[in-house]
Amino acid sequence: MITKSEIDTEKLRANAPFFARVLAADTPEQTLLFTLENLGRLPRGFDGEVFLPLFAHPNPKIRCLAVKNVGKLKDETFLEALSAFARAEKNTLARREAVSAIGRLKSEKAIPVLRHFLTDTAPKIILQAVRGLLCFKEHPEVLRYLTPLREHPNELLREHVSQALAPVSDIESDVQRQPHPLSPDFLKNVVVCADVSAVLRAIPTASVHLTFTSPPYYNARDYTIFESYEAYLEFLVTVFAETHRVTKEGRFFVLNTSPVIVPRISRAHASKRYAIPYDIHPRLTEIGWEFIDDITWVKPDYAAKNRNGGFFQHRKPLGYKANSVTESVMVYRKKTDKLIDWNMRQYNAETIESSKIVGDYEKTNVWHINPSADKVHPAVFPVELAARVIQFYSFKGDLVFDPFGGSGTVGQAAMALERYFLLCEKEEEYVERAMQRLDASLFSPEQPPRSLSLAELQTEKRRNHKP
Ligand SMILES: C[S@@+](CC[C@H](N)C(=O)[O-])C[C@H]1O[C@@H](n2cnc3c(N)ncnc32)[C@H](O)[C@@H]1O
Repeated sequence: MITKSEIDTEKLRANAPFFARVLAADTPEQTLLFTLENLGRLPRGFDGEVFLPLFAHPNPKIRCLAVKNVGKLKDETFLEALSAFARAEKNTLARREAVSAIGRLKSEKAIPVLRHFLTDTAPKIILQAVRGLLCFKEHPEVLRYLTPLREHPNELLREHVSQALAPVSDIESDVQRQPHPLSPDFLKNVVVCADVSAVLRAIPTASVHLTFTSPPYYNARDYTIFESYEAYLEFLVTVFAETHRVTKEGRFFVLNTSPVIVPRISRAHASKRYAIPYDIHPRLTEIGWEFIDDITWVKPDYAAKNRNGGFFQHRKPLGYKANSVTESVMVYRKKTDKLIDWNMRQYNAETIESSKIVGDYEKTNVWHINPSADKVHPAVFPVELAARVIQFYSFKGDLVFDPFGGSGTVGQAAMALERYFLLCEKEEEYVERAMQRLDASLFSPEQPPRSLSLAELQTEKRRNHKP
């Protein structure tokens, strides 16, 4: 029985006959797998020839691991063996490993081989070949192979190539505007009383760290009447595309909606239900929001409007109507090639430490929270909901935006959690209510809440603009 320490000792001996013996094609599969999986880093000068007989092993996992170990050597002399293997291999994982190993050679001689795999049937393999070729993207010939992939039917491939070939200035422009943790002072702790589309135009690109909002529900309440459902969705898409622009690289957008019912116009007609979360979702991904999570906010049974009256009496199939006790809380991220770690690394240790979510927290995507009511606004969400979203998706000192601010719930939660807020609300009555709630807050931030008209916001913007 071979042990890990035996492998570690033997691999340091140049040209050790040990591996030629252990990795022979007729060695039991278990021993082969154990050895191949435990080789770890290979020392310079390790004899990669010992892996080649396994390229023809009947077990694809063994073929895959043999190729992987050859890949670790980054030795151009294996280009031909890897290339022949990859061309003949039917197993996608093993083929991908071989294309990856070829890419890792970073050799110009590998360019024609990698090019061959740009027409592979498996997108993962094409992606691997693309990665290898990107080292040579300055070669006009390589650029010519890669450019058409920006139109490839596979979305991951399209995105990867488009990002990799975008001019550096395009990628970096957002990042360079202002250090990531900072946001413009004139937007901090402000409630703007105006139409959201006009307000968004006054917000500089990449200013906001998190948006949490609950938009007006299509004609379900009388504060917004849209000509059609399509017009309603289009309005939201325009607002959320601008929200995308003002959001910082890789940051989150959380949307609270639920299907709505528009009552029937007479007894001869049926009422109509609109599935807002499902209809808005594909539109959001199209404008650059990457889907991250679907959280369901569950309210107690008593909070639902009873739709069961008729069915409760007649009990006939097809007439069943569920009382709706849930709302969707959809989580998106501004699409980027940067990992979440990159976003975290933008903050200093102190901010990260003080923003940590300590103690118990909800681990599932089902959030049981009681609804709230307000004496002025007919459709508020609970502070608890806003607080959870803000804690999970922002750091202290971040700017949290609500384009449909209503009575200011997001502002209240943000202030309590030591974040700044920026709210927009078109109805004066609700702005006044928001200001009352924010003033009544126990917290006295260094930047007291202000309500501004659109003109005042624009003036502040000009004053803050540093040419
Ligand atoms: C569902 S409510 C948000 C309530 C809020 N989450 C709260 O807890 O108070 C949507 C709000 O969007 C506002 N609104 C609708 N259309 C708007 C527009 N075009 N510009 C700005 N606000 C708008 C409505 O007046 C309403 O207050």
